[in-house]
Amino acid sequence: MCGIVAYIGKSKNGSQFVFQGLKKLEYRGYDSWGLAVKPLRSQVLKVEKHIGKIGQAKTKLPLSSIAIGHTRWATHGGVTNSNAHPHLDCSRKLAVIHNGIVENYQEIKTELKKKGHQFRSETDTEVIAHFIEEKLKTMSLRKAVFSTFKALSGSNAICVLDSKKETILACRDGSPLVVGIGKDEYFLASDVTPFLKKTKKAVFLKDREGVVLKRHGVSFFNLQTGKKKRIKVKIVNWEVEDAQKGGYSHFLIKEIFEQPKTISKTAELNREVIKKLSLKIKKGKKVILLGCGTASYCAKAAEYFFAHAGIEAQSYGAYEFLPFARFCNSKTIVIAISQSGETADTLIAVKKAKQKKALIAAIVNAPGSTLERLADFTLPVGAGPEIAVVSTKAFTSQLATLYLLSSSVKGKGDLGRKKIKSLDKSLRLWFKNGIKEKIIKLAKMLLDANDIYLIGKHLNYPAALEFALKIKETSYLHSEAFASGELKHGVISLIQKGTPCIALLDSQKKIKEEVLSSAMELKSRGAKIIGVAPFNSLVFDYHFKTPDLKELTLIPNIIVGQLLGYYLGLGRGTDPDKPRNLAKSVTVK
Ligand code: F6R
Repeated sequence: MCGIVAYIGKSKNGSQFVFQGLKKLEYRGYDSWGLAVKPLRSQVLKVEKHIGKIGQAKTKLPLSSIAIGHTRWATHGGVTNSNAHPHLDCSRKLAVIHNGIVENYQEIKTELKKKGHQFRSETDTEVIAHFIEEKLKTMSLRKAVFSTFKALSGSNAICVLDSKKETILACRDGSPLVVGIGKDEYFLASDVTPFLKKTKKAVFLKDREGVVLKRHGVSFFNLQTGKKKRIKVKIVNWEVEDAQKGGYSHFLIKEIFEQPKTISKTAELNREVIKKLSLKIKKGKKVILLGCGTASYCAKAAEYFFAHAGIEAQSYGAYEFLPFARFCNSKTIVIAISQSGETADTLIAVKKAKQKKALIAAIVNAPGSTLERLADFTLPVGAGPEIAVVSTKAFTSQLATLYLLSSSVKGKGDLGRKKIKSLDKSLRLWFKNGIKEKIIKLAKMLLDANDIYLIGKHLNYPAALEFALKIKETSYLHSEAFASGELKHGVISLIQKGTPCIALLDSQKKIKEEVLSSAMELKSRGAKIIGVAPFNSLVFDYHFKTPDLKELTLIPNIIVGQLLGYYLGLGRGTDPDKPRNLAKSVTVK
């Protein structure tokens, strides 16, 4: 996935706006970045490209009221200056930026080469610029852009700047694009954060829609018919401050510490939808939970929530769901969990389930996503912009939302809401109690470990999986989680003298005893046991105390993993906001 930002309007600082906007979208790709700017009183495009992250970059760009920019996560072509976007046509009057993969680009490129087009990069994107240039020989700019886009296969979003016509055009099919409507100025971006400061009026493009932005107006089109469309302007309720670091050194740590507020906020959301869905589930609909990565661990945890409510739910990593989609029918509810609502694997799984007539409920954070549009019911989790690449606050809000849903199924909706609401106070109190110093101490203990193993049982098993993922992603340290019951079936052979093992527990008596005895088995083989739990035990070599929240203790237990990942990352010299090789949402298969 990549980030797209564009500006057209009254300001002479359009290029600076795009440059700053790209910094907000850096989470979408940080291999390289670039801009194409039409300077004031000139039609000669100024193009600037750089390898690496845009984060701290400074640049001198000409004054401009029309500019586009891109931050790249490489798919086709290595990380080089020439492969960075924007890409130009032969005449250098058209600049194109792109998010997605043009699956048929080789065929198109071969044809265009035969017609004499000269290519300067190895990317799939560059073919778009030349293809439009070719079509412009026989048709108008709008037709050329739209018909080029329709000829591309795969999931794509493109943005084209024509310096001669002073026009920006964009199309989407499968990759997100949103238009911001300001006063005599218009914005285009992959999400709303670049233009939140300027306007909260947004139009989320749907698949197979196009837009033409000029200085004095914007028009939307149906790409299939080529006709103009009436559109609905949405007011985005995210605050500018939510997308800023607010005094923290990284978004990740800011987002971790926002959780008391973001989790408890979910208690007020989605009341009606939760009621409707729980009724359907109680009437016997089969529940399937889907997500990728962190969201798949949320799905796994929700399996246990539903089991406690007497419902047999089944969770899948969305990327493994297709063989099982055939068992979906009109009696199935598929609950798809996603921060971005744009994860390709999740969308593919959902589309398949939909074909089989399953009812789709989306538990999603980013507004206006593709998943939201596919769903019959949407439960926005309201965690606000999550800028750090690794998911934290969106995950815990998704978890809280599913807890609310399962509580409602159990007939204990009010109690569920009360418990989620009260997390604000209990987590804040816990945070105040010297948590930072304790985590740093733990991080120092683990800094040079080669491997860290985690164990947990029932709800603390998905918690352990998520804990391990946070360490892997943020600090690149190998960590692996197991259900504690699995140890003696093979895994225990990995343990050597001094191997750090983290046991996640809550205070439920029977489970606690089982996990402690698994921890003891590890300790007997030389492991160093770190207990993350509301209570201490003789088995623990080190105890990290979490608040006793009964079945919701998994939330603070996971937060320990988020914080540990962050401080381990700092200690090991990684960039916690932008781990290597990762992108915030994986919009490609
Ligand atoms: C991990 C992480 C990823 C995402 C996964 C799904 O910290 O962020 O594992 O959870 O790529 O993304 P969404 O939730 O946007 O569907």
